[in-house]
Amino acid sequence: MKKTSYILGIESSCDDTAAAILKDNLVLSNCIANQKIHRSYGGVVPELASRAHQANIVPVVQQALSIANIDKKELSAIAYTRGPGLLGSLLVGSAFAKSLALSLDIPLIAVNHMQAHLLCHFIKNEDQPAPKFPFLGVTLSGGHTQLVLVKSHFEMKEIGKTLDDAIGEAFDKCGKIMGLNYPAGPEIDLFAKEGNPQAFDFPIPKVDGLDVSYSGLKTAFINLVHKNCMKNPSFIEENLNDLCASIQKTLVTVIMNKIIIAKEKYDLNSVVIGGGVAANSEIRRLLGQKANLDQWEVFLPPFQYTTDNAAMIGIVGYYKFLNHQFGSMNQSVSARLSL
Ligand code: KG4
Ligand code: ZN
Repeated sequence: MKKTSYILGIESSCDDTAAAILKDNLVLSNCIANQKIHRSYGGVVPELASRAHQANIVPVVQQALSIANIDKKELSAIAYTRGPGLLGSLLVGSAFAKSLALSLDIPLIAVNHMQAHLLCHFIKNEDQPAPKFPFLGVTLSGGHTQLVLVKSHFEMKEIGKTLDDAIGEAFDKCGKIMGLNYPAGPEIDLFAKEGNPQAFDFPIPKVDGLDVSYSGLKTAFINLVHKNCMKNPSFIEENLNDLCASIQKTLVTVIMNKIIIAKEKYDLNSVVIGGGVAANSEIRRLLGQKANLDQWEVFLPPFQYTTDNAAMIGIVGYYKFLNHQFGSMNQSVSARLSL
């Protein structure tokens, strides 16, 4: 009989310091220290992020162990985010993971953050079974927007991507011009609920194949806001809900169109989304509606596994542990690690 494994997952790729404990594929604890410090800058400041990771990492790991009621000596392996992400942030998590693995004499497992956003669907969940291979994976985050052909846990091929801004970045930059807090995606989602998505019309960018582009759309939005604010200084305040609903609808439509083309081109029946923007209510609604209508399956991650978290790092760690895919102490982090 297989022995139970206890995996510590550590995530530090951007501005969240996170630690989780998994008992096989079951999450026992999932802790996050968010870095509020970046709010006043309207975006993540890399140097401040790595300093905050250094301050947060020990307490967050201790909290994860304590909630899971596990002693560190019971751990079977440590999984950490090797990339992609901010170099200084990744270094803090990897150095901590390596030292702890060395001192406990247990395996170290390197995890790709973007694979983890998709594989979070394999965390044990009473409400939804795990997706079956092959499927279309869609990563929607602050740094990435990718369409991925997923053949198995570790056989992933990027078949489409953004040529410029990521979808989350576009949400955040459009929010910034309206004076919303960073990250603006959740606020736009909230304000859009009371708005009319047809109030403002934005062109859908024409991009060949399965790639997308968001920078032109973001510029069109910023230009519209500037032009109207010149005429009416209260323009944003008076139209906030409609502005949010209209830009949200357009940002989501861009990726929805490509999801439908990709699904047909590769003859796939399941769509699996992951990443911070997978929390967006409009993309969840549209995917659910379309899947229902055309009889395909859509997998929406539980909210706690959409934005950056360590449980998703832990689940990848679990599968790599089963396959004996261990990392080494001299493996360096990689800011631009591909799938
Ligand atoms: O995956 P994530 O936590 O970090 C990266 O790996 O980038 O994604 C963060 C992104 C931010 O751009 C944030 O604005 C966006 O996810 N986001 C949302 C929502 N919740 C988070 N965007 C739209 N609607 C939401 N509800
Ligand atoms: Zn992420």
